[in-house]
Amino acid sequence: MSDRYQTLTATRPGRFLVRNLGLPDPVRLERYTAGEPVLSGTFLAGGSGGLLQGAIATITATGAHLHTERDGDVSYSGLIFDASGIETVEALASLRDFFTPVVRSLGRCPHVAVLATSPERAGSVSARIAQRALEGFTRSLGKEIGRGGTVQLVYVDPDALGAIGSTVQFLLSPKSAYVSGQVVHITAQVEEAPELAAEPLTPLRGKVALVTGASRGIGEAIARTLHRDGAAVVGLDVPQAASDLQALMEELGGGVVTLDITAVDAPQRIARCLQERHGGVDIVVHNAGITRDRKLANMDAARWSSVLAVNLLAPERITTHLLDRSVLRPGGRVVGVASIAGIAGNVGQTNYATSKAGVIGLAQALAPLAARQHVTVNTVAPGFIETQMTAAVPLMIREAGRRMNSMSQGGLPVDVAETVAWLASPDSYGVTGNVVRVCGQSLLGA
Ligand SMILES: NC(=O)c1ccc[n+]([C@@H]2O[C@H](COP(=O)([O-])OP(=O)(O)OC[C@H]3O[C@@H](n4cnc5c(N)ncnc54)[C@H](O)[C@@H]3O)[C@@H](O)[C@H]2O)c1
Repeated sequence: MSDRYQTLTATRPGRFLVRNLGLPDPVRLERYTAGEPVLSGTFLAGGSGGLLQGAIATITATGAHLHTERDGDVSYSGLIFDASGIETVEALASLRDFFTPVVRSLGRCPHVAVLATSPERAGSVSARIAQRALEGFTRSLGKEIGRGGTVQLVYVDPDALGAIGSTVQFLLSPKSAYVSGQVVHITAQVEEAPELAAEPLTPLRGKVALVTGASRGIGEAIARTLHRDGAAVVGLDVPQAASDLQALMEELGGGVVTLDITAVDAPQRIARCLQERHGGVDIVVHNAGITRDRKLANMDAARWSSVLAVNLLAPERITTHLLDRSVLRPGGRVVGVASIAGIAGNVGQTNYATSKAGVIGLAQALAPLAARQHVTVNTVAPGFIETQMTAAVPLMIREAGRRMNSMSQGGLPVDVAETVAWLASPDSYGVTGNVVRVCGQSLLGA
């Protein structure tokens, strides 16, 4: 569904109204175009600590330009700041020293990432306090930066310094157009898979990806994006969606599985199909989901149990079965699709929010167990994304969902898909048990 308000604000009378009435001003976000370099333009790096050199190497490897001294004539595409060397409250002033002179002269849709040491792994009490303080800085800058910009914080464990590459690249790129105010944790729980270095434009070549609910909406975008990145995609949906799914998978040269994921034997049928056709699976994306909204006072048992069954019980049963039978191969990636309703809660959605908070719990509970099989488990939590699901939301609630975030607009299915593709990459072995919101830094549950 088109966002008429955003279309209006791009016109001359619309700009006049926005300026004079102080209305929300949604910037047209820059998104990644297939085949383009992941990073472009000039980035400025600063700060001190053990993470800067790795970040610089990641940026320059993409062909983007990088400065380590500010040039007042350059409009930077993004900033990267290594804050891991900050060990005292006084030293937090280096944030102001670096960012204040440059923040007003950034280009359109700039991307900012602050790298830090996981507070619980910091070397002293004062370092732990200072590292934790960074969250307030990045989340506030995300709300101030404007121009469609994003700001994130990346906490890195001291034994995972080499695992930051794919995360730095994603967070500084237009692939993370609608991800802002997030805190990503990088650990050494999962070892790097001993395989050939990933191709920059097709990092998923040779991988098999199962996407549930793939016939439309966010699932379709995920299937297309994983295919773009080189994966062989197996799309799954209910029999009623078979013709749309078939058409999409023909276009992508992928496989089709039509079943209801709540069927008692669904995990076994999915496992058998993946094993027989592909010898296993590398990426599992639990995207299929439903809403059956009612306030709790009016909630019948069918609404409650159907939402819990599709959104939570099925992903739990399927993931544990694929792990137990080693159908999910070493180097595997599981990504659950939750929702910010599962973080903030929502009126009329006790069933949905319970299921989506459970999806977050699934990643947190399974991540340490799956790590033993060299598999990561993460969750993406979309905010307001323009799909058939949100087109059905009443007008005023829909408008509130669109505007109550730092971007003053809804996201697109591709924004969720790009985030899934980053988590699915072999180079993202350091990211597990994380929840990454794709919500334009929504005010809900912030
Ligand atoms: N659109 C949003 O703003 C938004 C926000 C937060 C979270 N989400 C989540 O993102 C996911 C995709 O949302 P969407 O907006 O694309 O929804 P959608 O309704 O357009 O698509 C959901 C897909 O899941 C499939 N599905 C439903 N039940 C199934 C079952 N039992 N077995 C197999 N497939 C089944 C549907 O047929 C459909 O193709 C969902 O999990 C949803 O909860 C969406």
